[in-house]
Amino acid sequence: MADPKQEQRDAFRAEDPASGPLTTDQGVVVDHTDDSLQAGERGPTLMEDFHFREKITRFDHERIPERVVHARGAGAYGYFEPYASCAEFTRAAFLQDPSVRTPVFVRFSTVQGPRGSADTVRDVRGFATKFYTTEGNYDLVGNNFPVFFIQDGIKFPDFVHAVKPEPHNEIPTGASAHDTLWDFVSLQPETLHTIMWLMSDRAIPRSYRTMQGFGVHTFRFVDAAGKGTFVKFHWRPLLGVHSLVWDEAQETQGRDPDFNRRDLWDCIEAGNYPEYELGVQLVPEEDEHSFDFDLLDATKIIPEERVPVRPIGKMVLNRNPDNFFAETEQIAFHTANVVPGIDFTNDPLLQARNFSYLDTQLLRLGGPNFSQIPVNRPVAPVRTNQRDGFHQNQIHRGTSYSPNSLGGGCPALADPDSPAFRHLTERVDGQKIRRRSPSFDDHYTQPAMFWHSMSAWEQKHIVDAFRFELGKVGARAVRERTVEQLARVDHELAVAVAQGVGVAEPRRQETPRPTPSPALSLENNKGDGSI
Ligand code: HEM
Repeated sequence: MADPKQEQRDAFRAEDPASGPLTTDQGVVVDHTDDSLQAGERGPTLMEDFHFREKITRFDHERIPERVVHARGAGAYGYFEPYASCAEFTRAAFLQDPSVRTPVFVRFSTVQGPRGSADTVRDVRGFATKFYTTEGNYDLVGNNFPVFFIQDGIKFPDFVHAVKPEPHNEIPTGASAHDTLWDFVSLQPETLHTIMWLMSDRAIPRSYRTMQGFGVHTFRFVDAAGKGTFVKFHWRPLLGVHSLVWDEAQETQGRDPDFNRRDLWDCIEAGNYPEYELGVQLVPEEDEHSFDFDLLDATKIIPEERVPVRPIGKMVLNRNPDNFFAETEQIAFHTANVVPGIDFTNDPLLQARNFSYLDTQLLRLGGPNFSQIPVNRPVAPVRTNQRDGFHQNQIHRGTSYSPNSLGGGCPALADPDSPAFRHLTERVDGQKIRRRSPSFDDHYTQPAMFWHSMSAWEQKHIVDAFRFELGKVGARAVRERTVEQLARVDHELAVAVAQGVGVAEPRRQETPRPTPSPALSLENNKGDGSI
C-alpha cells in the first residue's frame, strides 16, 4: 500500500555518500581530507583552507539543545488504521474508513534523564504519536501512565526543577531518589496518584512493545454536526503489558543502557512489528458532572468499570528511521496539533501544554520553520501567510496578507461545509480567579484505588520501591511528611514504608475504600492484548 509519508521522505533523502567523490557544502570536489593546508612542512595552518574551516565549523555546530524533558528517546514509523468508521462521534478523516492507512511516527522516551542516560530507569515513559492525516498533522502526546503529577501547568517548572538533578552537583542523573523530588511530593499531595504508579512496576517497562500509552487528559471528539463527546485515549500493546522487576532493571542499566531502544530497533528490523490498539473512553457532554472527580483533572482516571474502553483501531510500527538526529531528535510533537473532529477541554494542564511545546521548539529547533523539517512536514497541503524566519526552506511567491484584492495571499475559507478546523462552541462564564477549583481537591481516593487494585506481590514491589527511593532522602522531615501523606492513602502501606525509611509509624487516618479497578494490575494482563 502506498505510504504518502514515505514518498515525501524519499524526496528529502541526501545524496548517497557512496555515489561519488567527497565534496564541500558548495558541491566542490575535495581530493584530500586527511591533512590541513599548511605554510611549509611543519605549519602553521592557513586560513585559506576553506575545506578545513568548513569541516571544523560544521562539527562545532552539530549539537542542538536536548529536550528540556523527555530528552532520551527512540522512534519508528508505521501506520494506523481504524476498525470501523467513528463518524458517530468524530468527523476526523483518519477515523472514518477502515481501508485508509494513516502514516505515523512514534517517539518513546524517558522523562527525567539526559539524552545519554539509561533506558531502564524508574521513570514515566513518553508515548508520543504523530498522525500524518489528510487533514493535517494530529499529535497524541501521551505517557505510559494514565495520570499526571500535577493539575495545573503553572506547576510544571516547579515539578520538573524538583525532579531534575540537584542544581549544585547534578546528582542524581537517572533516578527518582533524591530530596528535592520527595520534598515536592510531600508538600503537593496532588502528585500522589502518579507517584503510586511511579513506585509500581509500570515505571520499569520491559519493552516499548509491551507498554500502554494514554492521552492522559480528557479531550473532545466533535462530530460533523458540531456535537462534542468527552474522550480519553488509550494505547494497548497487543503483546500485553510486561514490566521488569527492579533487580533486572538495575542490572540491565549496567549491561545495556540501550536495552529498550535496541529491542525496538531489532524487532522492527526482524519484521517483528510492535502493534498497539487504540481505545477510547467516551463520556457524553451531559454527563460531565456525574463523576466524583472532575474530568478536567489530569490526576484522575475514569474507572473502566464506569466507562469501558472501546477499541477503535490499530497501529503497527514497521520502519526504523534512516537517521536518528534528522528524524527522532528533530521531530516536534505538540498537543495543539489537532485536526477537525478532535478538540480540547479546559483542563488547565492541557491548556499549559498547548502553549509550552511550540514555545520550547522555537528554541530547540532554531526558529519558526521547523515544521518544514522532513519528519515534521504534513502530507496535507500547506498554504500559509507565514513568511521568512531562520531556516526558511520554501520559496514563496506573491503577497502574504489577507484580505487581499491584489492577488496572492491565502484567504481563510468562509464555506461552512469545508473541512476547516472550527473550535467547539462552549459557553464560558465567570470572573477572573487565580484559585484551584474545589472539584480538584480529592488527592487520596484514586491513589487508594490504585493500591487496592494491586495483587500482593505488586504491593510488595511498591513498598520496596518507596523504601529504596524515599529511604535515600537525607532530610528526615521530608521522609516523615511523605509517610504522613501515604497514611491518607492507606495505613498499612504507610506503616510498611515507615518501617523501611527509619521514621515513626504514622497515626491511622480515615482512608477511602473505593471499589478496586482490576484493570490496573499487571496480574490481570492476559497477554493477548486484553487486560
Ligand atoms: C515533552 C508528555 C505535561 C512540557 C514531552 C514528550 C512527551 C510529553 C511524550 C516527548 C515528546 C517527544 O518525544 O518529542 C507529557 C504528558 C504530560 C505532559 C503526557 C501531562 C499529561 C507537560 C506539561 C508541560 C510539558 C504540563 C508544560 C507546561 C513539555 C516540554 C517538552 C515535553 C517543554 C519538550 C518538547 C520538545 O522539546 O520537543 N511531553 N507532557 N509537558 N513536554 Fe510534556
